[in-house]
Amino acid sequence: MTSDVRTAIFPVAGLGTRFLPATKVTPKELLPVIDTPLIQYAIDEARAAGIERMVFVSHPSKAAIERHVMDDRDLRATLRARGKSKVAAELAETALCPVDDDVRFVMQHEPLGLGHAVNCARDDVLPGPVAVLLPDDLILGKPGALTEMVSAYGRTDAGHLVAAMTVAPEETSKYGILSVTRRAGQLLEADGMVEKPAPEAAPSREAVVGRYVLDASIFDALDGQAPGAGGEIQLTDAISEGASRVGLAGFRFSGRRFDCGSKTGMLAATLHLARQDPEYAAVLAELDAEMAAERAA
Ligand code: UTP
Repeated sequence: MTSDVRTAIFPVAGLGTRFLPATKVTPKELLPVIDTPLIQYAIDEARAAGIERMVFVSHPSKAAIERHVMDDRDLRATLRARGKSKVAAELAETALCPVDDDVRFVMQHEPLGLGHAVNCARDDVLPGPVAVLLPDDLILGKPGALTEMVSAYGRTDAGHLVAAMTVAPEETSKYGILSVTRRAGQLLEADGMVEKPAPEAAPSREAVVGRYVLDASIFDALDGQAPGAGGEIQLTDAISEGASRVGLAGFRFSGRRFDCGSKTGMLAATLHLARQDPEYAAVLAELDAEMAAERAA
């Protein structure tokens, strides 16, 4: 699949404070859902969407991300020597290779906000619009959310396309909310977005989650931007600023999204995937039976 969207940016330099103490040493993006780290789901999604170059915006203290992402030939050789060729082959398939894959790591030395992190990638992107994937937003589904968005991007005039999902009224204050002007199937044309509005101030219930396809002008918008909420350079502000210039639309992806930046979201994602795998049927049934017995007692 070839498209205009050639680069994916993965901002992975955040502090992950909501998961402390787990994230004291282990980056949030490497926390696993069952056995697969969050970053791997995002990489697989970007690959499936035909992305050519992957740019990881990381922090020097999070070098483990690079070690996970890139191929480890020594580990594979050890596994093969111990008769674990299948696992070795699986690792080779999912890892990025410095020869065959176009991968860059850039550093964000201070976590000054998501917008700032995206702007750190500006000198490393290919020409044209860029995709941004937040690995802690896990979106399960086939086709992947980014594949759907890249395809929709070719059909809309909007320069900025953001993943959107409907939330309950009391949830609007947790998200950027789109000011929707027109609905057309999965596309929600918008003239801006408001960061974390109270329910009564929310322009809609369409919340923006962590997948974006952004016009390249986003970098200039971020350059000139003053810190917003929390003193951080907010990506939301730069997207909103571009709405009147390049156009903005939400895209209602068809997969299921889990907020794996939160403990409840991580637990929900783990249980969701475990329920779909016969390997875990017995342990889940045992736990269900225990809970039923406790309730009955
Ligand atoms: P979050 O706000 O969810 O991540 O950013 P966080 O700040 O690490 O987590 P908490 O709130 O303290 O628990 C979403 C994504 O953007 C990255 C994070 O690493 C995460 O993948 N990010 C955030 C950056 O790369 N740089 C930043 O300055 C902020």
